[in-house]
Amino acid sequence: MTLEAIRYRAGSLQILNQLLLPHETVYEEIRLVQDGYEAIKSMKVRGAPAIAIVGCLSLAVELRAGAGGEDPVGFIRESLCHLTSARPTAVNMGRAARELMEFTENESMEKSGDQLRESVIRCIEEMLERDVNDNKKIGNYGAQHILSGVPRDSVTILTHCNTGSLATAGYGTALGVVRSLHTLGRLKRVYCTETRPYNQGARLTAYEAVAEGFPATLITDSMASLTMREKNITAVVVGADRVVANGDTANKVGTYQLAIAAKHHGIPFYVAAPSTSCDLSLESGRDIVIEERPAEELTSINGVPVAAPGESSINSGYYLSAVNLVVVVVGGGGGGVVMPSLIPLTFTCAVITN
Ligand code: MRU
Repeated sequence: MTLEAIRYRAGSLQILNQLLLPHETVYEEIRLVQDGYEAIKSMKVRGAPAIAIVGCLSLAVELRAGAGGEDPVGFIRESLCHLTSARPTAVNMGRAARELMEFTENESMEKSGDQLRESVIRCIEEMLERDVNDNKKIGNYGAQHILSGVPRDSVTILTHCNTGSLATAGYGTALGVVRSLHTLGRLKRVYCTETRPYNQGARLTAYEAVAEGFPATLITDSMASLTMREKNITAVVVGADRVVANGDTANKVGTYQLAIAAKHHGIPFYVAAPSTSCDLSLESGRDIVIEERPAEELTSINGVPVAAPGESSINSGYYLSAVNLVVVVVGGGGGGVVMPSLIPLTFTCAVITN
């Protein structure tokens, strides 16, 4: 069984409300761009690829209902701009917006009204199909690459946050690698960090692991270094919110310390991401806008306070992502070689340089 974060058929979009997982499975209808924006902002849907897909599909649904009237180009431009502002660090939505706007402007030279709407909708629907296919390739390349270092053994993976079916159109990126290893019968165990403060690891990755039957162990974030030392971890595999031109990568906060600990223990550290997470317009990770979320997400769980109340230091919000890795792109199946032509199927390998 593969979990579905996004249910789409022409004119209808539903998203699994991930804020209610693992206790309740509730699909919510997305009818408008504003519904898509709110679902992304509130993290009912999350994960860099899923954010872009739901954002664009919310536009497709509204376009199918005739939105934009006589000025679909203006409506599309305004909607994409709004959707991109919902969560700034993950680049996938911004990148999809740029590409879709370019496509819209080109198409609008020959088409207008319903014809234009139809082409844009089709273009968005293709994104959905592409994401699942890309993820399968990432999973397979990643699995092959990791197994090439241990030809006969089963492997033990440590992962962070949630990068599975729930974070993408399906299959997953880093968790897609885990999925492929499991399918090949070569996954001994995956260790998932709980991923405080929002607990995507505990709430979502553990949920996926149970649903899919992966041999998995949930650990607290603070157990990661010890787990690396004691549990014979073959590799750490994480996803990415954005990979920029010099290879700097932003991902869920906590990724940096995992990379440092992996380096300390001599464990290979991989970032598994599709090209839609790459942003070659930025030179360095220092240029990435890092999302800051409300303090309440840190100081309470499901509305129940878990920190001492007060206005002092703890009440200052937290960063959801951190930029600190430098990645070396590894082509499909290649070994540590930069192979730009294979970037669309990127499987990237991160090393810390400082
Ligand atoms: O804050 P989230 O839950 O959207 O964060 C998700 C991650 O950090 C993922 O690693 C990243 O977006 C890639 S998802 C395939």
